[in-house]
Amino acid sequence: MGVATLYIKPAFEAKPLAPLPGLGHEVPMHEPLPRLRRSVLYVPASNEKALMKSASLPCDAVIYDLEDAVGPEEKTAARERLRGFLTGPSRPRCEVVVRINPLLSEWGTEDLLATRAARPDAILLPKVDGPRDVLDADAALDETDAPRSIRLWVMIETARAVLNVGAIAELGRDPAARLSCLVAGTNDLAKETRVADRQNLKPWLMQVVLAARAGNVTALDGVSNDFRDLNAFGHECAEARAMGFDGKTLIHPAQIGPANSVFSPTANEIAEAEAIVAEFAKPENRHRGVIAMKGRMVERLHLEQAEALIKKASKIEEKGE
Ligand code: COA
Ligand code: MG
Repeated sequence: MGVATLYIKPAFEAKPLAPLPGLGHEVPMHEPLPRLRRSVLYVPASNEKALMKSASLPCDAVIYDLEDAVGPEEKTAARERLRGFLTGPSRPRCEVVVRINPLLSEWGTEDLLATRAARPDAILLPKVDGPRDVLDADAALDETDAPRSIRLWVMIETARAVLNVGAIAELGRDPAARLSCLVAGTNDLAKETRVADRQNLKPWLMQVVLAARAGNVTALDGVSNDFRDLNAFGHECAEARAMGFDGKTLIHPAQIGPANSVFSPTANEIAEAEAIVAEFAKPENRHRGVIAMKGRMVERLHLEQAEALIKKASKIEEKGE
């Protein structure tokens, strides 16, 4: 069947949402131990040199871009180059994501087919407006018998996507859906809304974080265009971490180190987490809901946070950092 015919199929009928369990905390996570996504580098698929370089970079994930970073005349060649690269020996070992062109654009269907054949960890959908766009991509992947291991990431970069971000993220709670990550697209969002600076984008960025938490998916901040100013970039990463983002999308290899550093637990945070775990493990505290440590109230929710932080730190250590 031609894939071009797939998109007229009503996706909500094709894939009804599974009933949600009664309690929020029982909702299964797609990835029980969330993957590290501190530093996620865009690499234009049209740039051979950047493709080759990407294999040796210490970022947690790479987004190979067929969309904004590739001009209309280069689209077909870039798609073929990327397919060869991802099925060849130089494919990186980190999480591999491919940003395709919108499915309804002239390149979208071919992008989806070529990308699916290269078996990335995820496909990133640009210019998504609502949950329907995600379900359509999901249904199109199912039609090609794509393995369920291929996840979907979505750009939140249109005004409609921001307004619908809660409904989009809700798909993350459907065990049958592929949604795994929301990526803030700050350049497109600023263009469409005419918002002039990051300060004024922040309320919408917080909506992205909130929705991601509600849907149990990862939230990534947008890019910093000024890739030579690493000092400003470090501040922006720290701000993004404080806002609740899991990581930052990047445009240049020089941004990887600062992002990895800012989104990793510090030695002090690890020591504090270990102290909380040790305190709750004491026989006298084992059944208590709340304890006092150094004049501070520590509850079991802090224990859960501490355990998550320790797991993250050990994942980073496994990576050899
Ligand atoms: N991924 C992999 N390698 C990259 C890279 C990237 N995103 N950006 C730069 N490099 C490489 C260069 O090829 C160069 O490699 P070399 O050391 O082997 O010569 C090295 O890093 C240094 O690059 P530099 O000269 O500092 O930058 P540049 O002028 O070549 O490129 C940009 C600057 C902004 C054009 C480039 O970084 C880029 O294309 N970034 C991604 C843009 C993108 O994908 N945008 C869409 C999403 S927002
Ligand atoms: Mg964009």
